[in-house]
Amino acid sequence: MLIQAARTDFQVRDEGTGSPILLVHGFPLDHSMWNGQWETLTESYHVIAPDLRGFGLSGGAKNVITMADFADDLAEILDMMRVDEPITFCGLSMGGYIAWEFLRLFPERVQRLILCDTRASADTETVRQSRVQLAERVLEEGTGFLAQDMSKKLFSPLTRASQPELVTHMESVMRSCDPLAVAGATLGMSQRRDFTDFLTEIEIPALLICGSDDAITPVSEMQTIADQMPQAKLEIIPGAGHMAPLEAPAAVNAAILNFLGETDA
Ligand code: MLT
Repeated sequence: MLIQAARTDFQVRDEGTGSPILLVHGFPLDHSMWNGQWETLTESYHVIAPDLRGFGLSGGAKNVITMADFADDLAEILDMMRVDEPITFCGLSMGGYIAWEFLRLFPERVQRLILCDTRASADTETVRQSRVQLAERVLEEGTGFLAQDMSKKLFSPLTRASQPELVTHMESVMRSCDPLAVAGATLGMSQRRDFTDFLTEIEIPALLICGSDDAITPVSEMQTIADQMPQAKLEIIPGAGHMAPLEAPAAVNAAILNFLGETDA
């Protein structure tokens, strides 16, 4: 459905009834990265998967898109959909950076967290500089080079060999991204807060999911988060990379359903 919000238009895939689960995609992708969760989760939950500002079919690209901008957008989308009850916020990578910010801004709106292949720390100075360069290059050259570079890092060697259609699909999503949105989100990520010190205060249930072969966010990174969050448990998905939910949907869905069943109100 198309949501005509005050700031811009958002494309949102929305199906099912029950307690709401918000699925927030990573960078530079769109809602289709959750295809592997769709059928399973919509059987028992109201599943909402927006294209973030500037990505997929949503509008609103701008020079810098901060994690707080994305979080504000998501709150507005939920308002417009009249979703008032606390949600399960499920985000992958950049979607996880947005989850921390959403939780900071709207704590009463989050019942529980599912964080896939993400980190709580801010960028190092070196990563920050490489993001600035990436933003400049994408505005000059477009997204072709990024699709190629990222696709090597997103998937595990096993997935690249056994499910090449997933790689092809995500490369085409990345190639069709608006360069302004890619540059804006890159700069937004480079400016994001460090949430490390906040982790011990997060009292809501959390499921952390990480592909065993994630080349962008190694398991050790997520283990550190799990160790600090009072109610978190970590599930490592064997053979999967950074896109664990897409690469290994059966294992990820089993972990999610188990967590939701244990923590349903
Ligand atoms: C993502 O998958 O969202 C990105 O790899 C996050 C990042 O660049 O830090």
